Amino acid sequence: MNDTPAGLDYEALMQVVRRRRSVRAFEKGRHVGREVLEKIVDCGRWAPSGANSQPWDFIVVDDPAMKEQVFEVFMRQSQRLIDHARGFPAVKKSYMANTVAIIVVVGDPRWKACFPQGTSPEFVEEYAANNEKIHLVSLGAAIQNLQLGVTAMGLTSAWLSGGGEATTNRELSELLGYPPFMEAVGTIPIGYPQKDVSFRYRRPIKQVTHWNRYEPEKFRTQAQIDYYIDRLRPFAMYRGSERMEEWEDVDEKLGPWKDAFTTAAPNPGGKLDT
Ligand SMILES: Cc1cc2nc3c(=O)[nH]c(=O)nc-3n(C[C@H](O)[C@H](O)[C@H](O)COP(=O)(O)O)c2cc1C
Repeated sequence: MNDTPAGLDYEALMQVVRRRRSVRAFEKGRHVGREVLEKIVDCGRWAPSGANSQPWDFIVVDDPAMKEQVFEVFMRQSQRLIDHARGFPAVKKSYMANTVAIIVVVGDPRWKACFPQGTSPEFVEEYAANNEKIHLVSLGAAIQNLQLGVTAMGLTSAWLSGGGEATTNRELSELLGYPPFMEAVGTIPIGYPQKDVSFRYRRPIKQVTHWNRYEPEKFRTQAQIDYYIDRLRPFAMYRGSERMEEWEDVDEKLGPWKDAFTTAAPNPGGKLDT
């Protein structure tokens, strides 16, 4: 029996959730009105946050000259990544030139004071450490909501984390005028997709779901993580299929790791060795 309240629709939600792809190629010369961008921001505004602190501000950049300058900040950010974080399969950010808008999500860390504060030396650090997480996941929820809103409006976006790097944040705060202690934890270039990208690698549902207790045969060993970083990461990030089994060169790419990445039990022995 379907007991969903009237008007709510799982299938419609899943369509938006599945289509929220990181697309890094936009059609040139397109525009959207501010009413569309405001609807997208409204999705971000409705995200949950620790203590309802709403530690975010959304800087919507739709002025072409300003967009160009944000684009230039990210071109420099991209080059630094290439020079100083070698091996990471980053994509050149030149596609940002074709955005209809860029939303910079700025987090205000002062709001962490709203979360639980330890009253004895023993607990000060423990709560402070968790408050970092509460702050960041709240911002993540807002960014995710923005991206879902973008998708529901027939647009597409990417999720750029480079604004959180100190150098890039400094440049963005000077350009956009927010206080430098705030942090641009997410930057969302928005545009019309140049191509339809519906799928991307996801771990099998049976592998990620644990019923009632952590199932140790679903544990991923350090060796598996190392293999992902060394051999699979760029393909898992950019290929348009949900399952690695669908890759034409699956056997060559996965080798002895095929079962680990494609079945319910990456660690059949169940030993929790790292
Ligand atoms: C916290 C976070 C940071 C990310 N940072 C970047 C980034 O800096 N640049 C980028 O191109 N994509 C970035 N992404 C997008 C991921 O690469 C992307 O979500 C992942 O490869 C899965 O693809 P999908 O979004 O199409 O499902 C980030 C995603 C998240 C959640």
